[in-house]
Amino acid sequence: MGTMTEFVKVIYNDEEFQLPLVVGTEGEKAIDISRLRQETGLITLDTGYANTGSCTSSITFMDGEKGILRYRGIPVEQLAEHSSFMETSYLLVSGRLPTRQELTEFSVLLNDHSLVHEDMRAFYENFPRSSHPMGILSSMANAVKSFYPELQNLEEEINMTVTRLLSKIRTMAAMSYKISRGHKVVYPRPDLTYGANFMNMMFDSPVRPFEIDDDVVKALNVFWILHADHEQNCSTSAVRMVGSAKVNLYAAISAGIAALWGPLHGGANQAVIEMLSDIAANKNMDRAIERAKDKNDSFRLMGFGHRVYKTFDLRMKIMKKMCDTLLEKLNISDPLLDIAVELEQIALKDDYFIEHNLYPNVDFYSGIVMRAIGIPTNMFTVMFAIGRLPGWIAQWKESQDDPNWKLCRPRQIYTGPAETEYVPIGKR
Ligand code: ACO
Repeated sequence: MGTMTEFVKVIYNDEEFQLPLVVGTEGEKAIDISRLRQETGLITLDTGYANTGSCTSSITFMDGEKGILRYRGIPVEQLAEHSSFMETSYLLVSGRLPTRQELTEFSVLLNDHSLVHEDMRAFYENFPRSSHPMGILSSMANAVKSFYPELQNLEEEINMTVTRLLSKIRTMAAMSYKISRGHKVVYPRPDLTYGANFMNMMFDSPVRPFEIDDDVVKALNVFWILHADHEQNCSTSAVRMVGSAKVNLYAAISAGIAALWGPLHGGANQAVIEMLSDIAANKNMDRAIERAKDKNDSFRLMGFGHRVYKTFDLRMKIMKKMCDTLLEKLNISDPLLDIAVELEQIALKDDYFIEHNLYPNVDFYSGIVMRAIGIPTNMFTVMFAIGRLPGWIAQWKESQDDPNWKLCRPRQIYTGPAETEYVPIGKR
């Protein structure tokens, strides 16, 4: 929580108002406008919230200019190198790294809750086969609530909900893939780690047992760690916004998944591969660049640009390095990687991209990593959702525990018609 040190003067109608300045741990400053309307009659207008801090938070710090990203103070590059996704999830949700014993207990708990209620299978089976897995996941996250009765003790209820969601999300994701292919569902195994279990549930088959590759599991862990939280992004804000109405956590997470699905947000990882595939098939890279620069064309270079990063996305750098190592280890040569590298080189030298501070973001190379480990394109955003889940949960929990937390309810400046008489239908 920031400390109030100074005030900012606002002069309106010749009257002076003092608004407190809030300063965060890393020196970032905000004008606290919570009494602005009460004192001046004014509200602020900030479409897309690019200048608005919606909360104070002690979970994630990022500096888009310097390319810094830390979870609970720990640089994400250190977590990517040394931690597992489960340990990072614990860190985000509980606020500190677990001891060895706590981590073991956490793993046992996740294992105990990894099964999905058998009756939920009927839902999966009745979705049209062509349904997008993000739509299915969002529905299922919400549906889980109906299958597990609420506990009386609130703290226990929250802990159980968090555990159920963290554990079941990968089972639900793998189930949707298996059922969409008409394959037998594979159950989680108690002897496997979180990531290995997920891969096994995705790819094991009665006719071709899946061989777990430690390099692939490590890559998956890094992928999830890099996606685990990113402060007040679109889906996290959706989780906080919906959660502010005191809806249950399952419903709030379902809203987060829906927001993440959008191609301007998490859906970009799927959109990047589709764009690169189109460039590969039609050999139209120059045309793609021209279209991205054309003001009259809505086409954008997917995987480029970021609301906060106006330089390289740190996560993208780690992802690219991991992509190179993984492809080499697995002895894969992906033509889309060559196209991606070429596109990046062209864009980085192009005036339009330089002037607009457009650099590749985390999604630019993540799809190539996902392809290399066998994840189908329409599941890429689901992989992102599994990774982001601990962040959503941590942010939701923080908002619920905040003594100053209020229902999120922004205002607006009305620009429609002034009062207008109702005209009966016969006279229109
Ligand atoms: N290709 C071409 N031009 C772009 C791109 C792009 N990818 N991104 C932004 N621009 C241009 C805009 O056209 C605009 O140009 P103008 O000022 O000349 O009109 C300018 O850059 C600013 O764009 P905004 O949309 O206002 O910037 P914003 O901060 O809202 O955009 C966003 C961020 C949505 C991520 C955007 O860069 C984009 O659409 N990128 C492509 C989708 C993508 O990769 N999303 C993933 C983001 S990372 C994540 O969520 C995990």
